[in-house]
Amino acid sequence: MNNDPRGPSRASAAATVRRDIQALAAYPVGHAEGGIKLDAMENPYDLPDAVRDDIAAAVRATALSRYPGDGAALHQAVRQAFGIPADAALLFGNGSDELIHLIVQTCCEPGDVVLAPAPSFVIFEMAARYNHARPVGVPLTADLELDLPAMLAAIAAHRPKVIFLALPNNPTGGLWPAADVQAILDAAPGLVVIDEAYQPFADHTWMPRAAELPNAVVMRTVSKLGLAGLRFGYLAGPPAWIGEFDKVRPPYNVDVLTQAVMLAVLRHKDVLDEQAARLRADREPLARALADLPGTTVHPSSANFLLVRFSGELGADAVHQALKSRKIWVRAFGDGDPLLKNCLRISIGAPAENAALLAALREILGQATPGASAA
Ligand SMILES: Cc1ncc(COP(=O)(O)O)c(C=O)c1O
Repeated sequence: MNNDPRGPSRASAAATVRRDIQALAAYPVGHAEGGIKLDAMENPYDLPDAVRDDIAAAVRATALSRYPGDGAALHQAVRQAFGIPADAALLFGNGSDELIHLIVQTCCEPGDVVLAPAPSFVIFEMAARYNHARPVGVPLTADLELDLPAMLAAIAAHRPKVIFLALPNNPTGGLWPAADVQAILDAAPGLVVIDEAYQPFADHTWMPRAAELPNAVVMRTVSKLGLAGLRFGYLAGPPAWIGEFDKVRPPYNVDVLTQAVMLAVLRHKDVLDEQAARLRADREPLARALADLPGTTVHPSSANFLLVRFSGELGADAVHQALKSRKIWVRAFGDGDPLLKNCLRISIGAPAENAALLAALREILGQATPGASAA
């Protein structure tokens, strides 16, 4: 009998929510309005008016009263725009974040291992935890390259159900050699997910082989191409794999507006390609300028961002704070992975943004601006 005058006792979150979830922190989404936003690998360029008009017309013509259909038109457009082999199956996600969760949910029994190099994209580990799998990170070498012998040893020891390889890797920007990836594909006892989120900025893709690799799928997102606000990712691979993931996918995961806007934007894919090419072209000059600052090392990047280590008088945290006070937002790693000690990850911005970043860093690190007359 319940004698509590306030009525039947109510469950508390503390007593009900999984202990491991209570111990986690929510994914931090930054607030960076009114400044220079270089913290999330977004494309800094706007879409031209002609594309925006096409989007507006597509949205206007979309019935919001209906559930999304099977997306056949978008399937065809994505296949054509992104070179997906005809015999690969295709699955869409609400961002590639959702696809990562779907893959772990589909493949892993509780306690199964999800393996990835470390540091890499944090959602690989989070998806493993949320879905009762066990994340195993294989540290990169001291110079932030893939440690292939360590990866092969970890694969033999842990027999992972799923291996995630970000190619290029976030947050280091490096692109692992194809021969190393092939060695991992050959050794893997389960699925290898080749995450090509940053592929538009690199020279290599596994997409042409998406149907023929028996134990791999290739995942992409349009977020880094200039459409991060839309939330759209896709997964290509052998039909036997994709068909299983499709069973776990929430039936209407890609909404009608996203589908309509994607169809409209893909009619102008050349605009996205041209913007990506600009960012690629600006990468090396920015890397060289950053490397010329006192006490910095810039990791080679095949992505739309640079990982910079600050080993001078001011460490990364101090530099991060100083940039923040100037409303320039970059990504810091705090006390996270020791391999990222004193590192900041900086997106490649528009030329004026890159120039403002460099000017601020010169000021913060106490270096005279080249060309400025000495006082
Ligand atoms: C390697 C990697 N994969 C996937 C994603 C997620 O992309 P999306 O915006 O499609 O969820 C990111 C985002 O930063 C990433 O770095």
